[in-house]
Amino acid sequence: YTNLRSDMTAPEIHDSTKCNLGDTRYFSNVYKKEHIDYLLNFKIRDDDVFVVTYPKSGTIWTQHILSLIYSKGYRNGTENVTSENIVQCLELNRLNNDPAARPSPRLFTTHLPYSLVPQDLTKKGKVIYVTRNPKDVMTSMYHFIDLVSFKMKPNFETFMEIFLAGHYYPCLWFDHVREWYNNKKDLNILYITYEDMILDLRSVVKQICTFLGRELDDTSLDIVAEKATFKEMTKDTRANKNSISDTYSFFDSSKGKFMRKGTIGDWKNEMTVRQSERFDALFMEQMRDLQINLIWDIP
Ligand code: A3P
Repeated sequence: YTNLRSDMTAPEIHDSTKCNLGDTRYFSNVYKKEHIDYLLNFKIRDDDVFVVTYPKSGTIWTQHILSLIYSKGYRNGTENVTSENIVQCLELNRLNNDPAARPSPRLFTTHLPYSLVPQDLTKKGKVIYVTRNPKDVMTSMYHFIDLVSFKMKPNFETFMEIFLAGHYYPCLWFDHVREWYNNKKDLNILYITYEDMILDLRSVVKQICTFLGRELDDTSLDIVAEKATFKEMTKDTRANKNSISDTYSFFDSSKGKFMRKGTIGDWKNEMTVRQSERFDALFMEQMRDLQINLIWDIP
């Protein structure tokens, strides 16, 4: 990952064996090893909340929902604060602040695999884990890498091999999901899916509120659900990360958007039948022991 910055040589990707996407699990230019190490013993508070996702599963969506639930007047009084600054990324620490000094309630997002999160999380804090059909995750990610200045973007076939080999940040999708599910007895955790949010956003917002002990009345629920729609977030510069390249030099916002399509099943526009079958077979093999029903084929 050392080559991802636009001011350095971008990786030239031809196939998954030669590409250097998988050399390490972290963008070493973005994530500081000392910070990741520091997090292992980071002290969690009872009212800390962590939105945990594999990238492209609905992170900024859930981040925005939390920012709405926790802000007075549902962001009417915090016009200039981005959702990203209210619900901060644990491992990125872009603001370079000391998370230990932040006032409660602290809200975080993280893509970290279970094995790397603060050990204290098993005793304190709440986790909201968001999953999305991995085929849509992979498709979303394939478009998302347009924003990164690669010298040569891999074709979809190559990218799929990279993804299925776990050679993409933060780790193999199957491992991420399996670890976070298999350790659920040690966590205070709510599982939600991107697909449920698409189908009935208001119900998921209500579920989140109940889990967090922050019940909202019907009108407030309506407001939060409305402000978190794809349409509203696309208009809201505090929520949509449209100007991400102002913050990170290796992104180029003119090449793509965080708020891209926001739909279920876009993988069907990218994957061939053969690719889809290969993906399904691997999914069955990797996830067969998982004690949870992940249903993504929505009619
Ligand atoms: P697509 O690329 O499929 O459109 P993350 O925040 O984890 O990086 O995920 C980004 C994905 O979530 C993108 O998917 C983006 O469009 C989608 N997304 C973000 N906000 C959304 C919303 N309010 N409704 C539906 N999808 C949303």
